[in-house]
Amino acid sequence: MDLATRYLGLNLKNPLVVSASPLALDLGNCRKLEDCGAAAIVLPSIFQEDIENEIDEIERLVCEGNSEAFSYFPSSISANAGPKNYLELIRKTRAALDIPVIASLNGTTRTGWTDYAKQIEEAGAQAIELNVYLLPTDIALSGAEVEARYLDILDVVKQTVAIPVSMKLSPYFSSVGHMAKSLDEAGADGLVLFNRFYQPDIDLEELTLVRDLKLSHKGEIRLPLLWIATLAGKVKASLAASSGVQTAAEVVKYLFVGADVVMTTSALLRHGVDYMKTLHDGLIAELTEREANSVADIRGKMSRGATSDLAAYDRVNYIRILRGGAYNA
Ligand SMILES: Cc1cc2nc3c(=O)[nH]c(=O)nc-3n(C[C@H](O)[C@H](O)[C@H](O)COP(=O)(O)O)c2cc1C
Repeated sequence: MDLATRYLGLNLKNPLVVSASPLALDLGNCRKLEDCGAAAIVLPSIFQEDIENEIDEIERLVCEGNSEAFSYFPSSISANAGPKNYLELIRKTRAALDIPVIASLNGTTRTGWTDYAKQIEEAGAQAIELNVYLLPTDIALSGAEVEARYLDILDVVKQTVAIPVSMKLSPYFSSVGHMAKSLDEAGADGLVLFNRFYQPDIDLEELTLVRDLKLSHKGEIRLPLLWIATLAGKVKASLAASSGVQTAAEVVKYLFVGADVVMTTSALLRHGVDYMKTLHDGLIAELTEREANSVADIRGKMSRGATSDLAAYDRVNYIRILRGGAYNA
């Protein structure tokens, strides 16, 4: 079975990539993930705030969080969070693995931290994933200004490094496709769909805001699925699916709509890093069952450009569903 794929110009042995999370802070985890079939690993983000020494966001989250997800943070995380330690993490992970190591830079403005991208490149990362985790809670900030931030940050990082740069996108643009196209034209080597945003809840007993982070479930593939299907074949940038992968079925669905790679974090946190082997073997089984000889045989076959059921992706389907009662309880 030929599982090979290309992502950000890198040749990968298969489309299974470990998305950014604290799992990669542990070299033992990284080696196991590689042994179990991971084709590349994205390191957890280094935050603009860490680089600027204003606050230690990770430490704050660890101190305040008490969720399922945060229980997976290693206790040594704050010691790992500083910019110097991050470069060391890149060097060590590169030295320990044969598969590509992608660093994750997480920030919201153009200034003050992007030179650090150069140091990331020098430390040996094969690519950079940019995560502009910008919640425009300042209601004076227009959509156009938010979009300009993404493009600005991409521009300055692209000018700083020669390695490929991908952009982890939010699904909350008024025109996701146009934003993706703009980033593509501005030189993004890849688009990661999507970033999962932190949203607070309310504890009604304590009347406090709940700041935890829930692991994903498989229903969450639908939004990225729609947009990867829409963008496949329309942009030069590689497309990475991120959100909701719990089994090989979600991996195959993402490939069918045109993803070049499929990322996962929640499933690995839930079931352990060995679960990568289950996904890997499951992918081979799914392809075999469909008499496919390679990932390329199925990739994009159900994208918006390839499907004969175009209406399924459009408003007309919405009207049909509402009128026809095709809903599941
Ligand atoms: C505990 C935890 C830590 C994460 N840390 C990062 C991070 O540092 N940077 C980042 O870009 N995404 C981070 N993410 C988001 C994941 O990379 C991924 O995009 C998201 O969880 C959706 O994928 P999933 O459904 O496979 O979990 C984190 C997610 C979790 C659950």
